[in-house]
Amino acid sequence: MTERSYALVTGASRGLGKYFARALAARQQNLVLVARDNERLAKLAGELEKTCGIRAQTLALDLASPGAGGRLAEQLKERGLKIDLLVNNAGFGDSGEFLKLSLARQLEMISLQNATVVELTYKLLPAMIADWRKAWGQGDFPFMIVQLANYDPRSPADKAKSAAHLRRFSMPSMTSAWRTSRTRCGSANAAELRQRTKR
Ligand SMILES: NC(=O)c1ccc[n+]([C@@H]2O[C@H](COP(=O)([O-])OP(=O)(O)OC[C@H]3O[C@@H](n4cnc5c(N)ncnc54)[C@H](OP(=O)(O)O)[C@@H]3O)[C@@H](O)[C@H]2O)c1
Repeated sequence: MTERSYALVTGASRGLGKYFARALAARQQNLVLVARDNERLAKLAGELEKTCGIRAQTLALDLASPGAGGRLAEQLKERGLKIDLLVNNAGFGDSGEFLKLSLARQLEMISLQNATVVELTYKLLPAMIADWRKAWGQGDFPFMIVQLANYDPRSPADKAKSAAHLRRFSMPSMTSAWRTSRTRCGSANAAELRQRTKR
C-alpha cells in the first residue's frame, strides 16, 4: 500500500459500505467513498480523516445509471487516484414474488449490481494488477476485490439474506487481508464482517 493508493468503497454512505470504510480506515487505508448521498459521504470522510489520519475523498454518483462504472473510472483517473482495493458494495435487495415486484426496480438492481460492477471492475483491474506487478513482481496477487453487490435471480432478497457475497477475484483467503487490526480509530475484524453479512 503506497501513500497515494486508495481503497474504493461503493455504497459507503451507510450499512456495510460504511462499516467497510471504517474498518479500512482503521488499517490506515486511504479511501474513495462513493454513493448518491454526498452529505453522508462528506461527513464520514471528514470523521475518518480526523480520527484515523487518512485521506478520504468522496464521489457522489448514481451507480445504477447506464455507463456509471466507466464514468466513475474516468473521474478517478482525472483526480489521479490509484486504487489498490475495490469494494463492490453498493446495492439493495427487493423482496417478494417476482411478478409482484416493480420491473423498474428489478432493472435498476441489475444495472447497479451487475452491469456497473462488471464495468467498474473491468476498467480498474488492469491498472491494479499492473501496479502490483510493478511494486512486487510476479508473486500471488493480494486481496484486491471484495464483492458484496450481487443480483441473484434464483433468490429474492428475503431468501438471499444468508448469502454473503464476499467473492474474490484473485486471492486464496479473505482472512489474510481481514485479520483483526486495532488502532486508535477503530477495529477491523474478519469474523465480525462475516457475521454482519449473514443478517
Ligand atoms: N445486509 C445484508 O444482509 C446483505 C447480505 C448479503 C449481501 N448484501 C449486499 O451488501 C451490500 C450492502 O448492503 P447493506 O445492507 O449495507 O445496504 P444499505 O444499508 O441499504 O446500503 C446500501 C448502500 O448502497 C448505496 N447505493 C444504493 N443504490 C445506489 C445507487 N444507485 N448508486 C450509488 N450508490 C447506491 C447506498 O447509498 P445512497 O443511498 O447514498 O446512494 C448505500 O450506501 C448490498 O449490495 C447488498 O445487496 C447485504
